[in-house]
Amino acid sequence: MANTEIRIKVEDIRGTQSLRGRNLTSIQDLTPDEIRVLLDTASFLKETIKDNKTAHHSLLPGKTLAMIFEKPSLRTRVTFETGMTQLGGHAIYLAPADIQLGKRETVADVAKNLSRWCDVIMARVFSHKTITELAENATVPVINGLSDLEHPCQALADFQTIKERKGELKGLKLAFIGDGNNVANSLMLLAAKVGTHFSIGCPEGYEPDEEVVGWAKASAEESGSIIEVLGDPVEAVRNADVVYTDVWTSMGQEAQVELRKMAFEGYQVNQSLMSHAKPDAIVLHCLPAHRGEEITSEVLDGPQSAVLDEAENRLHAQKAVLSLLV
Ligand code: CP
Ligand code: NVA
Repeated sequence: MANTEIRIKVEDIRGTQSLRGRNLTSIQDLTPDEIRVLLDTASFLKETIKDNKTAHHSLLPGKTLAMIFEKPSLRTRVTFETGMTQLGGHAIYLAPADIQLGKRETVADVAKNLSRWCDVIMARVFSHKTITELAENATVPVINGLSDLEHPCQALADFQTIKERKGELKGLKLAFIGDGNNVANSLMLLAAKVGTHFSIGCPEGYEPDEEVVGWAKASAEESGSIIEVLGDPVEAVRNADVVYTDVWTSMGQEAQVELRKMAFEGYQVNQSLMSHAKPDAIVLHCLPAHRGEEITSEVLDGPQSAVLDEAENRLHAQKAVLSLLV
């Protein structure tokens, strides 16, 4: 594993000031160098916690994270809360009904109040505008824990996983099969920044956001990666090192579930589709998975799947984000 090469010390994390006080609303907030620092820090934190779960208590002692959720979550909630505990701090879960963001109180007022008590805010929201409004009004860092446009923490954990399995990121090919959604957007942006080629195979009408594709293509010109939006899933996975999928219907789109089931027929990640990727390709899924829809159990639980490492890495990647931003 590439981890063994990393020689970061806790003092280096405390001493890294370039990200301090900043927001993570989008992968666009990060430079390629900052992404490398975050991924190296995540690997270091993963390595050093193996034998000692209190190893990082010195990084954020007494600090508090406010976690706003407009939507359900397993991984994001548990990894942010566990991460804060491991860093020596504390996290507060604010359920949708607790603060009723924008209804009981404006987004700006919530941001300003939380900034007086807490050291950092993480929010999972429907509209990306809510994240930017929180960031504009908070005086502490705001982290996007998933919006309709992006899921940046997921993408960081995913690239940590790819780096562990493949060693290098530059020159690899990541194929995303399915909906051009929030997860696809963040993966595409991150791939473009670190020089990973990105091909999405999606039905017409379900392509990633055009503006995001434009941002990715601009970064790709610098990094040398190729960004492709394709209709044919077989073409997209051809020679891929990483095959990624996500649900066809994201949270908030439940009314379209039947329509989407029809639109995404033929976009399932199964053994037949995997036969077009490289033989040593890994399979990633942000989870939760709808088995038998976007992915078969055979692939999700099979030897090429790295989805549990990926889920574990949410903890380490977000600890890196928290310890460098706060
Ligand atoms: N992948 C992810 O964000 O999972 P949760 O929705 O369970 O948080
Ligand atoms: N695209 C999915 C990701 C869940 C982690 C959603 O937004 O529901």
